[in-house]
Amino acid sequence: MSGTKWKLEELPVGKTVEAVFWNNKVDDSPFPFRATHFDGRRAPKVVLSSDKRIVPGVPCMVKVTAVSKPDRSDRGAIEVEYLGPAPFRIEGVWLDPIVSKKLQILLESGLNILLDGPQGCGKTVLVRAIADSLNMEFVFFNCGAVVEATDFFATIQVRASASGAPVTDFVKTDILLALEEAIDHPERRYLVFLDELNRCQESARNALMPALDSTRRVFHPIKNTFVEIPANVQFIAAVNRGREFSGTFGIDAAQLDRFAPLQMDYMPPAEEVKLLQGRHSELPTAIIESVVAAADAVRNTSELAATLSVRASEEACIYLKHPLIGGDATAIPDVLKSSFCGRFEGRWNDVASDAGAVWSVIRQTLLARGATIADD
Ligand SMILES: Nc1ncnc2c1ncn2[C@@H]1O[C@H](COP(=O)(O)OP(=O)(O)O)[C@@H](O)[C@H]1O
Ligand SMILES: [Mg+2]
Repeated sequence: MSGTKWKLEELPVGKTVEAVFWNNKVDDSPFPFRATHFDGRRAPKVVLSSDKRIVPGVPCMVKVTAVSKPDRSDRGAIEVEYLGPAPFRIEGVWLDPIVSKKLQILLESGLNILLDGPQGCGKTVLVRAIADSLNMEFVFFNCGAVVEATDFFATIQVRASASGAPVTDFVKTDILLALEEAIDHPERRYLVFLDELNRCQESARNALMPALDSTRRVFHPIKNTFVEIPANVQFIAAVNRGREFSGTFGIDAAQLDRFAPLQMDYMPPAEEVKLLQGRHSELPTAIIESVVAAADAVRNTSELAATLSVRASEEACIYLKHPLIGGDATAIPDVLKSSFCGRFEGRWNDVASDAGAVWSVIRQTLLARGATIADD
């Protein structure tokens, strides 16, 4: 669709579309902003606006307010007014439309965000994609590796000096480097992603808390002083909510209160099929659908201690498309015994274990889809 030009009759007054504006080069024009495309398709006339809320280069939603010289193809313009920022359209990442809206609002307001969702539902790929699409510097930090409170900002490394005696050095973490860089570059924006925040010690996490509330400052362990966190730094944290965690996933209420919590979940099965089809186009759709149907059934089985990430369904596709298996649908049960059951406690053939319960859910799902299971 992006190749075809809009027809004027498709753009009546009141029509809402997305556009990116640039400064209008015509000096005496009453319209300081100019665009050429709507929703990525070429507009039939130049698009003009004088709406001061438009930011050049930033995609936004606009409404058609007037069309001048509709009967001339070589003249006239489409006038629009600004409605608001364009929704995220992140390449290759599926995001629930309501979560997407909330995320956009939180990002605009500069609040710290806590993404809460099961393992492998796309938290990490999402944040990376947000940084890309908003042109922010992405700073990834794995909180699972934090032991001491100072680990967020510096690690201690011991090396041999010229005399052979051990010397300890403080090495700045990516977070501290980014904070320093952000102070020097107020024109850049930084997105610090605190992955698996619930996996580090609560006492260590406390060191981070002044960074996340209105104090907005942290102790610089090398300079031995407090540094301010500039406004061009935003934090997003992620927690994996396994079924084994309680409602607060082990994070203290006062720490939790510094974030705007946002719940994510696995994408709907139809979207997961589309995603996997795009990545494994060699596989027949029916095979991908069976894999996703089995994953979905396992995810909806409430008595299990763990769940299945999209990584697991992806792994099954990697097996099934390999020339050694060659897209053979009869191999699905065997592949899922390792890729799905293997992610749970116990063995697929032990009915008393979680892996055994998972196998029975998979088996029923595949049988319902018309499969025959050899070792049944
Ligand atoms: N909503 C989604 N959109 C796109 N890819 C997804 C989505 N959910 C999961 N995936 C895929 O599943 C894998 C795990 O995603 P990841 O972001 O690491 O999950 P999490 O951080 O929530 O554990 C990646 O290969 C990712 O591409
Ligand atoms: Mg992750």
